[in-house]
Amino acid sequence: MATLVLVAGARPNFMKIAPILRALAARTPPVEATLVHTGQHYDTSMSDVFFQQLGIRSPDIYLGVGSASHAQQTAKILMAFEETLLELDEPAGVVVVGDVNSTMACSLVAVKLGISVAHVEAGLRSRDRRMPEEINRVVTDAVADLLMVSEPDGMRNLKAEGIADNKICYVGNVMIDTLVHQLEQARELHMAAKLGLEAGKLALVTLHRPSNVDGRERLGALVDFLIRVAARVPIVFPVHPRTDNKLREYDLRDRLAAAEGVQLLEPLGYRENLSLMADAQLVISDSGGIQEETTYLQVPCVTLRPNTERPVTVTEGTNTVVGEDLDKAWQTVAAVLSGTNRSGKAIDGWDGRAAERIVDVLVERWHLG
Ligand code: UD1
Repeated sequence: MATLVLVAGARPNFMKIAPILRALAARTPPVEATLVHTGQHYDTSMSDVFFQQLGIRSPDIYLGVGSASHAQQTAKILMAFEETLLELDEPAGVVVVGDVNSTMACSLVAVKLGISVAHVEAGLRSRDRRMPEEINRVVTDAVADLLMVSEPDGMRNLKAEGIADNKICYVGNVMIDTLVHQLEQARELHMAAKLGLEAGKLALVTLHRPSNVDGRERLGALVDFLIRVAARVPIVFPVHPRTDNKLREYDLRDRLAAAEGVQLLEPLGYRENLSLMADAQLVISDSGGIQEETTYLQVPCVTLRPNTERPVTVTEGTNTVVGEDLDKAWQTVAAVLSGTNRSGKAIDGWDGRAAERIVDVLVERWHLG
């Protein structure tokens, strides 16, 4: 039987790939899959730890592309993945997840070789073309054959873009599959206590968007904001390598690290991060996935971005998008700390079974197994 090719490249891909691999293996007979890791993320803390904790088998093929400018990184993935697909014997299709450079590059390679592409987490739109991920989403959805959607807005966006109904399926959120699968083990880690903090009385912070961290002025303002928050509630901040480089370059790291109530950590494993998120009074972040995870956990999230491609987390969930205005962010943080923030509702298909639905669609449409 022709193999299915699954692509993983960067940290937020790994929690989406893990349940899909499990669901493929659980079919009778199992669906054969080749796992390709592009190497967009390569540090132990950004990649290997996720493979270990999430029980993802070692990649069958590792492309080792590493970090570079967008054009260079994308070009390296295009060239290496084309070679990979040509060496495989007529794959049954390629599955890509999320919105990172690996997602877009591998989709382009596959369609140009006449191989079908399924995009998991299709249809999300921030309508902000300054975000590299938005370009990746638009391009991937334009060329993919099967669009697997995680939240209601994604259906509307794809239909509005004129994509044929028979290409679009609502499958729910595969990232929540991993959260459900890992939550108990994560809670058992008691990360808050290990950091000398009380569960329910900490703020978890993550920041890595270029729009927040790549400029001295904005990053400096965010450091001041975090120091202000830390005077009210202890903050735990696992620092992404991009952010760490910039904090050092702009001489901001020492001031933040020395501030009362601030703990800066290396990037955390999936479970360690989930343990802290589940025990947080609030999360302050510019991540995409964390908006969804906090909605599922019913933990308030303050998103330091002007927009979101995941609006259901705002309309139904616990997310507040505060824009660039740090005074508004402060007001939201103060409201959460005084207990006046709202709690969220459950979202359709965010139930721990999205990967099974994804595999059902793949088996039926691509005649696998
Ligand atoms: C990428 C994704 C982003 C995702 C994020 C999660 C794109 C366009 N961006 O952004 O959507 O939210 O991953 O982390 O695909 N670095 C290391 N070690 C690593 C990886 C990166 O030190 O293992 C450093 C390098 O200095 C690198 C920088 O981080 O230049 C940025 O990495 P890159 O993959 O280009 O983008 P991210 O900011 O991680």
